Amino acid sequence: MKILVVGGGGREHAIIKKLKTNKEITEIFAAPGNGGMVADATLVDIVGTDTDKIAEFAVNNKIDYAVVAPDDPLVAGCVDALEEKGIPCFGPKANAAIIEGSKVFSKNLMKKYSIPTAEYEVFTDMAAALEYLETAPIPTVIKADGLALGKGVIIANTRDEAKKAVISMMQDKMFGKSGDSIVIEEFLTGPEVSVLSFTDGETIVPMVSSMDHKRAGDNDTGLNTGGMGTVAPNPYYTEDIAKQCMETIFLPTINAMNAEGRTFKGCLYFGLMLTEKGPKVIEYNCRFGDPETQVVLPLLESDLLTVMKATTYGTLKDTEVKFKNKHACCVIMASKGYPEGYKKGYEITIDKQIADNVYIAGAKCENGKLLTNGGRVLGATAIGDTLKSAIDKAYKLTEKIHFENAYKRNDIGAKALKATEEK
Ligand code: AMP
Ligand code: GLY
Repeated sequence: MKILVVGGGGREHAIIKKLKTNKEITEIFAAPGNGGMVADATLVDIVGTDTDKIAEFAVNNKIDYAVVAPDDPLVAGCVDALEEKGIPCFGPKANAAIIEGSKVFSKNLMKKYSIPTAEYEVFTDMAAALEYLETAPIPTVIKADGLALGKGVIIANTRDEAKKAVISMMQDKMFGKSGDSIVIEEFLTGPEVSVLSFTDGETIVPMVSSMDHKRAGDNDTGLNTGGMGTVAPNPYYTEDIAKQCMETIFLPTINAMNAEGRTFKGCLYFGLMLTEKGPKVIEYNCRFGDPETQVVLPLLESDLLTVMKATTYGTLKDTEVKFKNKHACCVIMASKGYPEGYKKGYEITIDKQIADNVYIAGAKCENGKLLTNGGRVLGATAIGDTLKSAIDKAYKLTEKIHFENAYKRNDIGAKALKATEEK
């Protein structure tokens, strides 16, 4: 069986490594993949947003099943293009991927179907947005409507900062067309939880919960990044909260998408904040999270391909989705300077014995050498019987990985550990 995975980061490497445990799979292609994946997949030099070329490749190479992982190809209709050519896929069609592709869409969906989220206003006119900010409660949160490489959210602590954010999005077009419409929303507080779920549009099965660490520096300081590390499960996400989320958020979202004629299939990611007034949705993503996937999939006991296919064919209700009763921690090793400027091209060495635990993101292969080629270079994941042992083991792994200019946070999982101890 031949599989095509669209995408090229650490998340895709984790998906590929998990798929590889299925003995029916004979070959995995990664488009475009990255040089750190060559032991696990055949690289294909096509980017996911080139949806026609992806579909053409899949047909020509007799791909049996495709997994479209990143947001931009999903929003661009990669699943639609593949399905039109008869290739079954994991992932939502473009009309459902809009749940991530447009914040205005997702906020209006939540309002229409009474799904708990921050209060908000939508603006397409900059003068109106600036006027609103004269009296809006501060801090406030400004969000560009469209995709913005994870950078489209600005938390403004002063009225001035808020106005600057609006001007940079709407006038200076910092995120291009993504800032033509903006959402200004209520600032919420509380622990954050990521819940990835499998859904076939009817049944929704949440995966083990996780906690991302988005800021670049220790103790959640510094700039926002794509994610500097993760732990799973998230200790704040109790069984009671999970039940409440299923009733007030997960099922209502699936039903709302169906009612809108936008049935969602694939992985629906809920970014939640556990506020004093209950769990609220901070954001939806139409895909697996990165680096949440690097802790969630290693804990998946069931066969990933079987579960993925169940979302495609609508048989999730009858499919077992089981997770190990263990803990996982992923520490990201980045290039120093990320998320701003950084140098690349440094050789990466990884102790052979730990290769299975390393998910490579920003690397390229040149003359048989693996070289750094991005901000987030790789993630090291360890599993343990306790959260503490998973964290300790993950940091031990990073000692066996070397490249010049490497940077990591030193406190991945610390907040979760404290929450566990306080319980
Ligand atoms: P996003 O890029 O949508 O993942 O958002 C980045 C981060 O901004 C989230 O992980 C939250 O920490 C924060 N955030 C987004 N919306 C809000 C909000 N309404 N209140 C407080 N923090 C928020
Ligand atoms: N880790 C956050 C995301 O994937 O959007």
